[in-house]
Amino acid sequence: MRIVVVGGSGLIGSKLVTMLTGDGHDVVAASRRSGVDAVTGEGLAGALRGASVVVDVSNSPSFEDAAVMKFFKTSTHNLLTAEAAASVRHHVALSVVGTGRLLQSGYLRAKFAQEKLIKESSVPYSIIQATQFFEFVTTIADAATRGTAIRVPPVPFQPVAADDVVRAVSKIVTGAPLNGTVEIGGPERFYLDGLLQRVLGTRHDPREVIADSHARYFGAELNERSLVPGDEAELGEIRFDQWLGRTAQPIANPNLQPAVGAGTGRERATLKENEFRVGEVPPGSVLLMGDVAIFSVEGGFCATQAMCTHRQGPLSEGTIDGSTVTCPLHGAQFNVWTGAVLRGPAKEPLKTYAVTVDGEVGRVEFPVADAVQSA
Ligand SMILES: NC(=O)c1ccc[n+]([C@@H]2O[C@H](COP(=O)([O-])OP(=O)(O)OC[C@H]3O[C@@H](n4cnc5c(N)ncnc54)[C@H](OP(=O)(O)O)[C@@H]3O)[C@@H](O)[C@H]2O)c1
Ligand code: FES
Repeated sequence: MRIVVVGGSGLIGSKLVTMLTGDGHDVVAASRRSGVDAVTGEGLAGALRGASVVVDVSNSPSFEDAAVMKFFKTSTHNLLTAEAAASVRHHVALSVVGTGRLLQSGYLRAKFAQEKLIKESSVPYSIIQATQFFEFVTTIADAATRGTAIRVPPVPFQPVAADDVVRAVSKIVTGAPLNGTVEIGGPERFYLDGLLQRVLGTRHDPREVIADSHARYFGAELNERSLVPGDEAELGEIRFDQWLGRTAQPIANPNLQPAVGAGTGRERATLKENEFRVGEVPPGSVLLMGDVAIFSVEGGFCATQAMCTHRQGPLSEGTIDGSTVTCPLHGAQFNVWTGAVLRGPAKEPLKTYAVTVDGEVGRVEFPVADAVQSA
């Protein structure tokens, strides 16, 4: 099947071209650098000759309100006109979850206009609305930065890996047109401020994330529903921490003694997934293993879920005093042995896991993978 991927050199486009080509399709990667300009129309008719499906994963080079509207309206009109002339059987477009409820944003107004043109056209279509890509999270932080502060609303947020989006798009591309819209989101729900704080912490970025309900997200005020997909959405498989490439990370906190680290590859290779070397976690330090935080405090080792129950603050980056850990985001405190909330704003206790020590090896008495799934 001949498939034209418009925006075939972009983040999603290049991965999609590789996947579809690997599946044996005749794929054309079309974008300005291959001589196809969807805005001026240059090269379009030639690229579409003999095509059964056109996938539009292009994006505007400018996010300025008027420019982005002009881009999506003009390119979509040109594509649909050329597809009708070439008897293309299926137009597939990638859009954003929540376009219709975020019309204060110039970018999302333009995506909404793109969707409207597709629905009104004579070409059978499928629209896939994705939540924000993991790859886009730092762009959100940068766009919300003023000085050293990042102000974002503390709303639910369910980003998805570009690889999961590509898999979902390729499935739609090779199926029959839906003449409708489907959604895809990530497998986990976070809060926008909490997730940004975690990413900055991982990258030792000194900017401070401030939760501000009135802070605008690309021009739009958000509510609890704005960025999350509906119940029928397909969910990706790749978890955010997996994507970050973070499996075990010692706490880097001046108030704690630093953990020594995760050991050499050879040493770790002898440990099971739920085991650690006690020497790696000196008294007063924390070891992050997947989504479980292992604390070495007076009285021995204990383990809790690594994320605060308020808004998923990274407890492994908090401070510890005796048996009390303080969340770095909004200051909630928990007893690390019992998980009990000692101070709000958190209301729910932490999940806790027993830790046993056998000589030099400590063991979380719950396989970490299971702990992660039930957390
Ligand atoms: N970022 C997110 O979190 C997110 C979430 C949901 C949906 N989406 C949607 O996903 C789509 C793809 O995003 P992406 O991040 O993969 O985009 P991207 O990496 O910015 O790639 C944009 C692509 O568009 C091409 N392009 C730009 N102007 C063009 C023109 N006039 N004619 C033809 N091609 C043109 C670019 O290639 P050339 O420069 O060679 O032309 C490039 O291949 C977008 O429509 C976006 O709205 C994004
Ligand atoms: S995320 Fe708010 S107190 Fe922990």
